[in-house]
Amino acid sequence: MMDSFENKKVLVTGGSRGLGEAICRRFASAGCQVIVNCAHGIEVAEKVAAGINGIAYACDISDEKAVARMFSDVGPVDILVNNARIDPYKRGADMTDGDWWDAVMSVNLKGAYLCGKFAFEDMKKRQWGRMIHISSLWAYQPANERMLSYAAAKSAMHALSRGFANLGATHGITSNVLAPGLIMTDLIMTRLTPEQLEKEMAGIPLGRGASTDEVAEAVFKIADTPFLTGEIINLNGGAFMRA
Ligand SMILES: NC(=O)c1ccc[n+]([C@@H]2O[C@H](COP(=O)([O-])OP(=O)(O)OC[C@H]3O[C@@H](n4cnc5c(N)ncnc54)[C@H](OP(=O)(O)O)[C@@H]3O)[C@@H](O)[C@H]2O)c1
Repeated sequence: MMDSFENKKVLVTGGSRGLGEAICRRFASAGCQVIVNCAHGIEVAEKVAAGINGIAYACDISDEKAVARMFSDVGPVDILVNNARIDPYKRGADMTDGDWWDAVMSVNLKGAYLCGKFAFEDMKKRQWGRMIHISSLWAYQPANERMLSYAAAKSAMHALSRGFANLGATHGITSNVLAPGLIMTDLIMTRLTPEQLEKEMAGIPLGRGASTDEVAEAVFKIADTPFLTGEIINLNGGAFMRA
């Protein structure tokens, strides 16, 4: 371990379930104080927080005032994991293409930008900080209809991360992207039919999706690698070899 993580404050956006929950647990196991952010399901976030001696905090990260309040309430954050996302399957039936684009960009991109901006100021004061932005294989692969805005937001996140890496370089702040392929979250396991899952696996040379724990471990390793900044770490079981 390159740095001590004992009592470092970590904010995980969308930390209440799926990958975010595993990231919360991983940082807590290293002695960090974890803020488990969510938007709607505070009881779920509270349950995760209770298990790791963390703090649950409901805040819609697309709402600038709410984000300002969250950072003021929780105090200086040492490590920010921009993990929250709008579920691409949750488009409302009455939403126009423009409404959906705005909703996806507001959470997946603007939310990451806002949290990054607020975290950055405090990190600068302490001359230490880590930002890890969770992107996706969709940032590279040609999107289908459902994933158009999602893919665009994830791709833009790479530029956002490099910008923070540039701004933070002289202040001890690093910023990197982790771009996973298929992750075997509970949601994915219930959503995909066995046939769909088999099709997904066929595109992965290692023949499986990642567990949430192994993706969380990669996030932790990025935070624990001080000389790494401005990079995109791809964790996809070799999917690029099939591109
Ligand atoms: N699952 C995969 O196979 C996969 C693959 C590649 C990349 N990823 C990326 O990995 C990350 C986690 O994915 P996941 O599948 O674990 O996600 P998920 O199960 O859909 O969970 C999303 C999380 O984001 C929160 N959230 C949603 N809108 C929010 C908002 N406006 N403000 C704050 N929090 C908000 C949710 O909280 P509420 O429940 O309270 O709304 C929830 O905690 C995402 O960035 C995703 O793009 C996932």
